[in-house]
Amino acid sequence: TYVISQGCIDLKDRACVDECPVDCIYEGPRMLYIHPDECVDCGACEPVCPVEAIAYEDDLPSESAGYLAINAEVFADLGSPGGAAGAGMMPADHPLVAAAQASA
Ligand code: F3S
Ligand code: F3S
Repeated sequence: TYVISQGCIDLKDRACVDECPVDCIYEGPRMLYIHPDECVDCGACEPVCPVEAIAYEDDLPSESAGYLAINAEVFADLGSPGGAAGAGMMPADHPLVAAAQASA
């Protein structure tokens, strides 16, 4: 799966959303998350993020390694809605994202 990491926090450029053919990039209050069971690894989202917050799981920089679990765990309650457009804004970010310091 592809993974969104900390660069998205409080930025939410959303260019990635328009590229995803399966609509598996979901919005939380502070960042967006890729649903690991719905992503088909097409890679279309990765080059369009202006802050390079998206990477394939095996290519995550070490400082972003925790975001593989974060992108998965945030869907624990939501399950697999099968499309972000119909799901709307998620009620909460992953706890680690909610607690993250605001970027300068
Ligand atoms: Fe975030 Fe980059 Fe998408 S900032 S919303 S991952 S284009
Ligand atoms: Fe969508 Fe990016 Fe996966 S465009 S299918 S989230 S690689």
